[in-house]
Amino acid sequence: MPRSTFETIPMKHTLEAHPMTDFQFRTVIQKLSPNQGAEMLWYGRKRPDILSLAQGEGSLATPDFITHAALKSAEQGRTFYAPVQGVPELRQEISNYYSRIMNLNIPTNRIFVTGSGTTAMHLALTSILDEGDEVVAVTPIWKNLLGAVELAQAKVVQVGLQHTEDRGWTLDLDQLFSAVTHKTKAMLIVTPSNPTGWVMKREDIKSVMDFARERGIWIIADEVYHRTVFDQTRSPSFLEVAEPEDKLYVINSFSKSYAMTGWRLGWLVGPSAAETVIRDIALYDNMGPPTFTQLGGVEALRNGEDFIESQRQIWAANLDLVMDRFQKNGRIRMIRPEATFYAFFQVDGEPNCLTLTKRLIDEQALSLAPGCAFGKCCSGWIRMCFAASESKMTDALDRLDRALRA
Ligand SMILES: Cc1ncc(COP(=O)(O)O)c(C=O)c1O
Repeated sequence: MPRSTFETIPMKHTLEAHPMTDFQFRTVIQKLSPNQGAEMLWYGRKRPDILSLAQGEGSLATPDFITHAALKSAEQGRTFYAPVQGVPELRQEISNYYSRIMNLNIPTNRIFVTGSGTTAMHLALTSILDEGDEVVAVTPIWKNLLGAVELAQAKVVQVGLQHTEDRGWTLDLDQLFSAVTHKTKAMLIVTPSNPTGWVMKREDIKSVMDFARERGIWIIADEVYHRTVFDQTRSPSFLEVAEPEDKLYVINSFSKSYAMTGWRLGWLVGPSAAETVIRDIALYDNMGPPTFTQLGGVEALRNGEDFIESQRQIWAANLDLVMDRFQKNGRIRMIRPEATFYAFFQVDGEPNCLTLTKRLIDEQALSLAPGCAFGKCCSGWIRMCFAASESKMTDALDRLDRALRA
């Protein structure tokens, strides 16, 4: 397997590659599969004039009331070590949030504040995976999650979503269940899905939870986009069908809902049996996220509903714009996403996503994410984040049109 995208297609600018074996880095690091999305992003950044819709974040800044709460708590002296599982106020506020949004009672001992959704994923995986275990992952999927599984020395088994124009993206549960073997330790499901915008239906969530319970395997559900849903206020959650002591981890984050990507703040919900396990892993890791930022998180959950709604309206309008422009372009095919802020599309006559994303950077200074980064299903696909301002979106769509006409 090539270690880098730059070994598979000729690039105008190159990134330096260093031999890894000479330095005796861990074998697992040397064997990590290439992250073509990240590599193409870095390649695009070499152009000072790049317009990037390759990464998953909006253009709005974190709302002032959240930032002020964090700054105020720093000024008031919340700058010391906090409990590894998170400050009590935030664990309680997350519990309150589940009670308000989902009518669920999640006690605070099942809630861990983490330094991002990504960290929550690492903690969950590290707590259950042994070398050689298999994780069945529904794909396409955000590549970093697959990388996290590889880093935990487990093997990813991919089960692809299917798609038709009439039914959109769907998951065949029989196919999912038949991928589970005696080596399977967990199923990894991102709902709503980055990059497709597919949302798992409540009855499917229940069937998967029942199956996992019967087979004694874990579910790791990434629900980071649970508030980024069009036509609904939130997506269904695994927590709604689970028993408190099910082998279930739910990952969430402040990044997308509250425009807090740079804060690196998220959370993990698990069974109470995991409480001391996660505590100990976090203890030997970074001992939890910064203390005062967590008070910003409290404020976000407590008073962030209007902001969530205003972001949703902007993204819904941008989605209409993208659908309209793609239709007029004539060469682009895309299933309208139910959620998230990603347009995941194919271009007629462009079967290789790396060639096309590279050409977009070289010719139009437009950076988008290549579909092959999201799983073995998707080398003919491209992902565009549409959480940007209208002017940036229009500019990007113009550049895409020009490239596809050329
Ligand atoms: C599915 C999914 N999970 C997690 C994350 C990362 O969240 P965080 O910024 O909290 O690490 C992303 C970011 O794009 C994502 O798409």
